[in-house]
Amino acid sequence: MAPPPCRRVLLLCSSGLLLVIATVANAADPVYTGCPSDRNYSRGGAFDANLRALLASLPAAASSSGGFAVNATGAATATDRAYGLAQCRADVVFGGRGGDDCRACLDGSVRDVSAAPCAGQKSAVLIYDNCLLRFSNESFTGASDDRVVKEYWNPENATQPEEFRSLVGKLMDNLTDTAAHTSPRLFAAGVAELPPFIKIYGMAQCTRDLAAGDCYRCLVGAVADIPKCCDGKQGGQVITRSCSIRFEVYPFFDAQAAKAAMSPAPAQPPATRNRRPHKHKLIGSVNLGDEDEMRSSESLLYDLGTLKAATGNFSEDNRLGEGGFGPVYKGILPNGQEIAVKRLSATSHQGQLEMKTEIALVAKLQHKNLVRLLGCCIEEEEKILVYEFLCNKSLDTILFDPARQQDLNWEQRFKIIEGIGRGLLYLHEDSRLKIIHRDLKASNILLDADMNPKISDFGLAKLFNMECSVANTSRIAGTYGYMAPEYALHGIFSAKSDVFSYGVLLLEIVTGRRNTHINDSEDLLTFVWRHWSRGAAGELLDGCPAAGRRPQELLRRIHVGLLCVQEDPQLRPGMASVVVMLNSRSVTLPAPSSPAFFFAGHGIAGDTAAAAAGDHEVACVSDLEPR
Ligand SMILES: *[C@@H]1O[C@H](CO)[C@@H](O)[C@H](O)[C@H]1NC(C)=O
Ligand SMILES: *[C@@H]1O[C@H](CO)[C@@H](O)[C@H](O)[C@H]1NC(C)=O
Ligand SMILES: *[C@@H]1O[C@H](CO)[C@@H](O)[C@H](O)[C@H]1NC(C)=O
Ligand SMILES: *[C@@H]1O[C@H](CO)[C@@H](O)[C@H](O)[C@H]1NC(C)=O
Ligand SMILES: *[C@@H]1O[C@H](CO)[C@@H](O)[C@H](O)[C@H]1NC(C)=O
Ligand SMILES: *[C@@H]1O[C@H](CO)[C@@H](O)[C@H](O)[C@H]1NC(C)=O
Ligand SMILES: *[C@@H]1O[C@H](CO)[C@@H](O)[C@H](O)[C@H]1NC(C)=O
Ligand SMILES: *[C@@H]1O[C@H](CO)[C@@H](O)[C@H](O)[C@H]1NC(C)=O
Ligand SMILES: *[C@@H]1O[C@H](CO)[C@@H](O)[C@H](O)[C@H]1NC(C)=O
Repeated sequence: MAPPPCRRVLLLCSSGLLLVIATVANAADPVYTGCPSDRNYSRGGAFDANLRALLASLPAAASSSGGFAVNATGAATATDRAYGLAQCRADVVFGGRGGDDCRACLDGSVRDVSAAPCAGQKSAVLIYDNCLLRFSNESFTGASDDRVVKEYWNPENATQPEEFRSLVGKLMDNLTDTAAHTSPRLFAAGVAELPPFIKIYGMAQCTRDLAAGDCYRCLVGAVADIPKCCDGKQGGQVITRSCSIRFEVYPFFDAQAAKAAMSPAPAQPPATRNRRPHKHKLIGSVNLGDEDEMRSSESLLYDLGTLKAATGNFSEDNRLGEGGFGPVYKGILPNGQEIAVKRLSATSHQGQLEMKTEIALVAKLQHKNLVRLLGCCIEEEEKILVYEFLCNKSLDTILFDPARQQDLNWEQRFKIIEGIGRGLLYLHEDSRLKIIHRDLKASNILLDADMNPKISDFGLAKLFNMECSVANTSRIAGTYGYMAPEYALHGIFSAKSDVFSYGVLLLEIVTGRRNTHINDSEDLLTFVWRHWSRGAAGELLDGCPAAGRRPQELLRRIHVGLLCVQEDPQLRPGMASVVVMLNSRSVTLPAPSSPAFFFAGHGIAGDTAAAAAGDHEVACVSDLEPR
């Protein structure tokens, strides 16, 4: 009955070695697969042909028509007719990438039905986070099937369980009613607040072939299942073939898109093809005309020949290192300008125009603490980003090198801490794009000739629309050790998960130690916490220069670092407060609560292999436990 305590996390070491802590569940996997195995059809037969035709057209039909399509292929009276239904979650279709995300999910579902256990079966139901696909040799549309087929729950217990229960009940009742009776797409999502900090996010949806009454009954049944599946838990999901509900303490849907999907107009989301890229939707305030956009992106283009010449055909000699998105080379342009050339190995789902436009926007982000993106090259399957070259390499090469770390004096350390803070603040709040970095770490901080820190690799997560959907090095989502628990465990990122990474980085800079395990029961965060809370922070500074230490200043920085790595994201300060706290001695700081302890606190305890591996990149994480 009790859920296994371990979450499923796949880790990739920097060496590229796969270190599988447990099985992977990612957003591209079905949350439910229903394929009875006693209904085989024969290959090459008429049903086979009909099903192929059906599956070939459904994803496109659904994604181009608001996220829903039903169809049937084969003669109307024949026994080999194939019936199908494809649907995307309404907020997905109304979200940034619109039909594209819907299409990607449905295309994945078509691939999955040609594999075990569905291959060769006459009927199948595959349900994913973002979409569902159903087909059969018998007509099923319009008929509700509200038997619970799958439940998921978050193993964390809700604090304030009574209030939580009652609020979940109210929220889900409201969503049931809204989905069935007022939303045109049999979909509703909403948020309820449980003071002081908890927000409960809920969603209810039916397949859109159902009548309102059937949808209502199906959802009421699913809500009634909550006490069985997930009583007192922080999250849960009840899935039937015809409807599903979900609640969580973190946002798992796009609130703005959900709102649009729930309102009667527009009847259709904008068509994918002619739509502007999603940044316009998200940020609202960017209003470049198409012409401006084209101009600015064209002027950023480098041709492949120039870059090949600059880097000696991407020679090993010019290779500076391997970033999260591919190798980086040093190059020299004909005019003598030094550049860093990042040859992207990850595949982006964006088209060329969309990608160029996105790059043009990222290139507009200019701040003295951000590595400047000079342009790009998208030619012959190559996707290359061109950056300013910084001569002092990345922070980790000096900070963690026992031979060199003493050279990094306190003044420089403080300048680096503050600079990164300002760069991050700019990304979060001051730039028009409001970018969450998602992979802030010492190797992503580059140093210029005056040892000014500059953040690199920002905006790339967005460029690749990195979701935790494919367990592959091409979709690296963050780096273990810097990832906030809610991101590592639930895939939820926010400005506050960047704040967490910043806190880790700050503590690393002050102590000169990497956030790997100190011993089996301690990582850097708990190590610092233990010393700090018994007033022995001085002992933390072994790896650092003794000269010029200013104890009060140091304590204040450690204090700010600890505030940033608190387990509850709501308690972490925003970057604006962080910058103020670092600068003003007159601001009093709140007392930090104990930091997130990643290993022990979240069921990966004792896995010293994981701890020892250190700076590995986390490719994918699951969110919930299947029952
Ligand atoms: C259907 O196919 C599966 C997999 O090929 C096989 O295991 C099963 O025995 C078949 N069932 C029938 C009724 O033929
Ligand atoms: C139904 O499927 C057939 C065969 O793939 C396709 O030609 C037709 O356009 C589809 N109809 C709709 C409404 O999608
Ligand atoms: C669908 O397939 C099943 C199993 O082969 C069969 O028993 C049933 O009669 C079929 N339904 C129709 C409408 O042909
Ligand atoms: C949740 O509460 C139950 C019963 O009160 C307890 O047995 C369980 O260990 C708790 N789980 C967590 C993750 O705290
Ligand atoms: C659901 O909640 C919203 C927001 O609080 C409210 O406007 C709406 O009337 C409620 N709907 C129902 C059916 O209770
Ligand atoms: C790069 O490759 C081209 C042909 O592939 C060759 O002509 C050129 O000399 C090479 N340049 C360098 C610097 O190796
Ligand atoms: C940083 O770069 C400058 C200029 O290239 C150089 O003089 C200086 O020694 C470098 N500093 C470190 C710590 O490597
Ligand atoms: C993983 O990445 C490799 C190389 O980038 C690619 O060829 C492969 O298709 C990817 N696998 C999946 C499952 O996406
Ligand atoms: C290891 O962890 C324990 C318990 O937290 C602590 O008491 C001990 O001092 C640590 N050892 C080292 C070498 O830091």
